[in-house]
Amino acid sequence: MTAIRNIVILTGAGVSAESGIATFRGPGGLWEGHRVEDVCTPQALHRDPELVHRFYDERRAKLGEVEPNAAHRALARLDAEWTGELLLVTQNVDDLHERAGSKRLIHMHGELKSALCARCGDSGAWEESLPPGSVCGNCGAATLRPDIVFFGEMPYRMEEIERAISRADLFVSIGTSGAVYPAAGFVQTARYHGADTLEMNLDPSEGSGWFAESRRGPAGVLVPEWVDGLLAQA
Ligand code: OAD
Repeated sequence: MTAIRNIVILTGAGVSAESGIATFRGPGGLWEGHRVEDVCTPQALHRDPELVHRFYDERRAKLGEVEPNAAHRALARLDAEWTGELLLVTQNVDDLHERAGSKRLIHMHGELKSALCARCGDSGAWEESLPPGSVCGNCGAATLRPDIVFFGEMPYRMEEIERAISRADLFVSIGTSGAVYPAAGFVQTARYHGADTLEMNLDPSEGSGWFAESRRGPAGVLVPEWVDGLLAQA
């Protein structure tokens, strides 16, 4: 087996569950009491902007009540100490990875603490509530929306992510159900390019069969153990 130098890590809602942020596909299939198509599609934003903006305002406000957990902190430690290439790709729109200290990080599904202009495409930091009709500082149009990648929209920085996966010796997936593409397909790309693959998840995911190794348990326990082991070998 080749020595591990380049690592790509994909995280999903499970990595933030122990911080108190609800996952998407829990019992009942509702996401914080809403059907995903009512709050996470361009059609929903067009049909009921008040509902969609309020939904993300509530999620943004909740960030003030939660803290990074042991899994976020371990990944930040790995980022700081790993001398090879490393990229952490998160599907999460919370800010817990960066608050833990991760730097080599891509939010492929957007960020709660960012606003996007639906007209000019400019985006920037946004901390407060974001009512429909908020004005873009760049183009002046009243078209700011939550900077969330809705279903049917293209995730961010895909070229960079694909490039990193194609160079990876190890691809690791943490706390994701493997239900949403393109992220769910990253493991197949990684295997195609010869990477070793590891999954850490509480339950079997839809993609478990693609991984060379699957570890079952809470991210707050599994991830620090894995990071300790990896850094000890390095
Ligand atoms: P899901 O809610 O689909 O899956 C979360 C996964 O985390 C499940 O497989 C759980 O078993 C696992 N899990 C729960 N608690 C855990 C813990 N403490 N430790 C480890 N694993 C745990 O969330 P995602 O896979 O992230 O997209 O969902 C993918 C995308 O679907 C999201 O980014 C979002 C959603 O629609 C957008 O908003 C665009």
